[in-house]
This record gives sequence, structure tokens and C-alpha cells, in this order.
Amino acid sequence: PTFRIALIAGDGIGKEVMPEGLRVVLAAAERFGFELDCRTIEWASCDYYAQHGQMMPDDWKEQLRGVDALYFGAVGWPDTVPDHVSLWGSLLKFRREFDQYINLRPVRLFEGVPCPLAGRKPGDIDYLVVRENTEGEYTSLGGVMYEGTEREIVIQESVFSRHGTDRVLKYAYELAQSRKRKHLTVATKSNGIAISMPWWDGRADAVGRDYPDVTIDKQHIDILSARFVLQPTRFDVVVASNLFGDILSDLGPATTGTIGLAPSANLNPERKFPSLFEPVHGSAPDIYGQNIANPIAMIWSGALMLDFLTQGQGAGRAAHDAILGAIEAVLRDGPRTRDLGGTASTTEVGTAIAERVAAA
Ligand code: NAI
Ligand code: MG
Repeated sequence: PTFRIALIAGDGIGKEVMPEGLRVVLAAAERFGFELDCRTIEWASCDYYAQHGQMMPDDWKEQLRGVDALYFGAVGWPDTVPDHVSLWGSLLKFRREFDQYINLRPVRLFEGVPCPLAGRKPGDIDYLVVRENTEGEYTSLGGVMYEGTEREIVIQESVFSRHGTDRVLKYAYELAQSRKRKHLTVATKSNGIAISMPWWDGRADAVGRDYPDVTIDKQHIDILSARFVLQPTRFDVVVASNLFGDILSDLGPATTGTIGLAPSANLNPERKFPSLFEPVHGSAPDIYGQNIANPIAMIWSGALMLDFLTQGQGAGRAAHDAILGAIEAVLRDGPRTRDLGGTASTTEVGTAIAERVAAA
């Protein structure tokens, strides 16, 4: 099969980790026998903004017609473009207009990576956070009354549709079902948020009737956050609303070492629109230009992309597993970038992983 991929490096270290991600993805395609038709996109960057006064051309959707996936570096250059402008003008447009309603973030502790949690070893932390990515607490419904006076009132609504809730729950149950432990944790806050969250729990039960082999537990977001730190072995798949998921999907990766490792996928599981694969980190202006950024988050995101494109079957799954195996080996044996205490360059780490994939 041939998959069409748009490469959007963006800004800062996005431009440094993209070539390494691509190097590994191409090595995997070659090794496991599928074709990638890659095209480089220069827009969705602050450089483009400097020339055109906007982050993307008006016909950006047209230009992405027929693309199966977006492989995305990072966007943002606060010296020239305010962060809310660069983010809302690019990445958030992709997520919303392409209905990428699943934000998936794997959390895993590797050998060779210092864990900020005392006494934890690889195997203790290995779970997936599934965040609802299109509705919930993040809406623009609301407003301010009596602005600037003593009587000022501000309201911002949350929106939970049955359609939007059921589809993220269904995705999470299916994901849990595909894993060895088959366990789903549902983030809630039905004690404090007494209308929407009991309803959310009810939908979790209703959707769960189709997945009798998946065990579930509902945990209030406050204690759930504490357990990410204190009892990470409890988790397998965790599903959460937009806000709760946003918080958990930063907290989880933070417990496994450097942000330079954390990957993410923004998925439209029906494949009606392209999905987007990106590292969790941003453009890191503080280290840009030195070839010292850790490329592993970008590379791991590429593995998620290949797995998704082939629906977790055959060649794509094999390619994903080979890339993960290569990442594991390089984290254990080196070379390592500076954030992991090493001295290797971005390019050296990317090349080492690509070589292991080619030899897998
Ligand atoms: P950041 O993730 O860019 O950097 C935070 C810290 O982590 C920095 O000290 C950086 O050097 C380090 N770091 C990040 N990635 C690394 C890597 N691969 N290897 C080694 N160290 C790494 O977040 P920050 O500084 O808050 O934001 C910088 C810019 O990135 C802003 O314009 C922001 O809006 C944007 N941003 C974009 C995101 C995206 O495109 N999805 C996500 C987060 C931030
Ligand atoms: Mg966040």
C-alpha cells in the first residue's frame, strides 16, 4: 500500500527533529515493505507568518486533500508571533476541522531513563491516556457581563454531547480490549461536578456493556492524579474529558523522565479526515540551532503514525514494534542526547535508531 503523508516541521526544534523522524519512518517503510508518498509543507510556521501575516494559506485544506496523515514537528516562535496566534492558526485548526477527537498519549518508562518517581523500574509505568479532543470544557460558549465593574460576571459553558462522549469511550474500550490487561480507568469528578460527570459515568457504563471483557474503574480526577505519581502500576488505558485529559497527559509523561520522549497522536479513527502525529513538546527556542534536541518523541510519533495508517495490522504494526524496540535499545545503550545526560547530537540519535530499524 502507499500512504500519503504531509510533513510539517513548523518552528524551532520542529525543524531539527523532523529529519530524524523521517529518517526512521523511511527506514521502517523500506524494511517492512510499504510505500510512503511524502510531501513537505512550508506553511504552518512562524516563518510563513512573517511573510504572509497568517500561519497558513487560505486554501490549506485544499492543499491537504488526499493526504492520509500529517506528521507534525512543533509550532511557536514567541519572539515574533504570540503563542495563541501561532497555535490557534495552525495546530488547533487541524485538530478541530479534521475532527481529530482522540488525543492519544502513551506513557512508558524505559530502561536507561532516570525516573523522577523513587523506586520505579521499567514495566511499572506503561499505560495510554485517551483524551477527548473536541468538546467538553474547551468551548467558546460564554461571555462577560458588566465588564470592568464590581458586578462583573463571567460564564463559560462545558459541552458534553452523547455523540462526542460515546465515541471517545468506545475508542478507549476498544483500545483496552486490544491490550493484555484489558483494564480501563475512567476519569470523573461526579462528586463535585454533579450534573455532567454523573452523566459521563453513566455513558461509560452504557458503552461498556458492549465490552464485557474489559474491567473498569471510575476515579475522581484529584485522586487519579495522585495515583499517577504514587501508584502508576494501576493503569492500563485511561480515558478522560478534554480538560482532565489535558492535565493527565502532561502529568503522565512527566513521571517518565524527559519531555523529549513523549509522543502523541490526534486521531480521526473513522479516517474521514487525516490524523496528526506530533511530539508533545514545543519548539524549544532555548535549545534550537544546536542540534541537541532529543528526536525520540518525534520518532515515536512516527511509529504511532505507521501503526494507525495500517490499522494496527501487518506491516505497520511490525514497523511500529521495530521502531519501539530500536528506541528501547538506544535509550539503554546510547547514544543519548543532553537531556538524558549524554553528549550525542539529534542526528546521531536519529541515525542510530534508523540503523537498528533497518537491521530489525
Ligand atoms: P517546549 O516543549 O518547547 O520546551 C520546554 C522545555 O523542554 C525547554 O527547556 C526545552 O528546551 C525542553 N525540551 C522540549 N523538547 C525537547 C527535546 N526534544 N529535547 C530536549 N529538550 C526539550 O515548551 P515551551 O518552552 O513552553 O514553548 C516553546 C514554544 O513551543 C512556544 O511557542 C509554545 O507555544 C510552543 N509549543 C508548541 C507545541 C506544539 O506545537 N504542539 C506544544 C507546546 C509548546
Ligand atoms: Mg497540555
